[in-house]
Amino acid sequence: MLLQSASILLAAASAVSAQAVVGTAYGFATGVTGGGDAVAATPSSAEELAEWLSDDTARVIVIDQEYDFTGTTGTDSGCDRISCSVSGGGQYYLGDISCGSSDNTAVSSISYDTAGPSPLAVGSNKSIISSNGQGVLKGKGLSLQSDASNVIIQGIEFTNINPGIVWGGDALDFQGGNDGVWVDHCKFSLIGRQFVVSHYTGSRLTLSNNEFDGVTTTSASCNNNHYWTMMFIADGDQVTLDRNYFHDVSGRAPKLGADGVSGNFQASNNYFSNMDGHAFDAYDGAIAILEGNVFESVTTPITEQGASVSTIFNVVDDAAASSCESYIGRACAVNSVDSGSGDWPALSDTSALSSFSSLTDYLVEPIAASEVASLVSSNAGPANLGSDSTSGGTDASATTPAAVVETTAAAVVETPVAETTAAAVVETPVAQEEAPAAATTTEAAAAATETASESASGEEVQQWGQCGGSNWTGATTCAAGTSCVAYNDWYSQCVSSAERRMKRALRHRH
Ligand SMILES: *[C@@H]1O[C@H](CO)[C@@H](O)[C@H](O)[C@H]1NC(C)=O
Ligand SMILES: *[C@@H]1O[C@H](CO)[C@@H](O)[C@H](O)[C@H]1NC(C)=O
Repeated sequence: MLLQSASILLAAASAVSAQAVVGTAYGFATGVTGGGDAVAATPSSAEELAEWLSDDTARVIVIDQEYDFTGTTGTDSGCDRISCSVSGGGQYYLGDISCGSSDNTAVSSISYDTAGPSPLAVGSNKSIISSNGQGVLKGKGLSLQSDASNVIIQGIEFTNINPGIVWGGDALDFQGGNDGVWVDHCKFSLIGRQFVVSHYTGSRLTLSNNEFDGVTTTSASCNNNHYWTMMFIADGDQVTLDRNYFHDVSGRAPKLGADGVSGNFQASNNYFSNMDGHAFDAYDGAIAILEGNVFESVTTPITEQGASVSTIFNVVDDAAASSCESYIGRACAVNSVDSGSGDWPALSDTSALSSFSSLTDYLVEPIAASEVASLVSSNAGPANLGSDSTSGGTDASATTPAAVVETTAAAVVETPVAETTAAAVVETPVAQEEAPAAATTTEAAAAATETASESASGEEVQQWGQCGGSNWTGATTCAAGTSCVAYNDWYSQCVSSAERRMKRALRHRH
């Protein structure tokens, strides 16, 4: 008997040890260890999964199945777009926050899945990993809670979050101050709103080897390409985008920064393919090095707005590549743009390089663009996890010790709170995609919809926090200088009087 149970234990132990993070966090996520040496464990239910994700206990959480959160229908009012209607392959807009323009028709009853707008909360010190690529979150995304740090999300597929409905939920939401998150080999598809969004205070992230699959029949740009790909609008964001596969997406792929906030971005060796819309969009304050990326059949590699930002260095030729040497100690990699893609203007202001000269420990050293398409298409996503020994930070840039992390943590902590600025709200519409851009005037506002449930009753709600709505059980008193504004039946938010005036002005600009 004793022997038998010992061997059962051994078998169990070896099954457990097979479940581990593959590779090492790198880029801006350098030093991130997630759940570290915690024993890998598989939750027995969706409830247990939610519980393990949300606390701050160091855990290695194995997702070994598809968790399907869909199936509970709610209805609410909202609108359809005239220029890109649902019957023409568009999306509905839930609530009234995106429904103020003359391009809308009111819809009294939109059915949506109630799981989407309430993501799973994620705390600190987690490795959230997949068992053999089987880990799927269907109908609900993950929300890194404010200041949750040291998290690894690897090999997880996010899918089917109210794909036909804007404001139906994001896949991966960073509530701010998320110092050290590595998102690797995940897949994103069929999401109503953003695949990835970082807002409020800055976060330090690497997104590597992920597949952003925009194939959809419900697109805000009415072209079967998902529009809301990813945006980083927090002051102090530090983001590495390396070896990701973006395809069939049509906007914000990625959107870097917002006027009035500042962030550092490196986009290296990403593969942008078959995109009927734009890849990069950027706003003043976005400090970026774009190198070794590949564009194939991408209508707009960078928006005109993005190209107007003075702190972007995109590497268009060998001369630009070698000018990196004196700032970051190596040549940059030239981007590759095929003849089926749109204009890729040279942006060569070296202030971006200067800014990165003190951040070189976080810079990924890219491979040549000529190797990117085949490497990324055979390596990105959950199914390819572990298939390529060069992925996941085994390159030299992955070896930075934890000491560097503290330096940057301090820098992040010092940054002002982005939600008290107007920047996120006053987004300039992107010219060639008017319909989706029109929805962005209250970006920060609506993004907050999915949060705030953690604020305890009795506390004051800060600007942008939720303060009411049907089913709201949190605090309802707004901080000084802000007041509670109802956007719809299920969402009210603390907004300053200046913001309210601005929003009204934006709504009426047509
Ligand atoms: C995360 O783990 C580290 C190292 O054990 C610990 O110092 C830190 O307090 C943990 N974070 C939280 C929020 O518990
Ligand atoms: C609000 O609560 C009601 C009843 O308690 C429920 O039927 C409904 O689905 C909830 N709505 C949301 C958006 O969770």
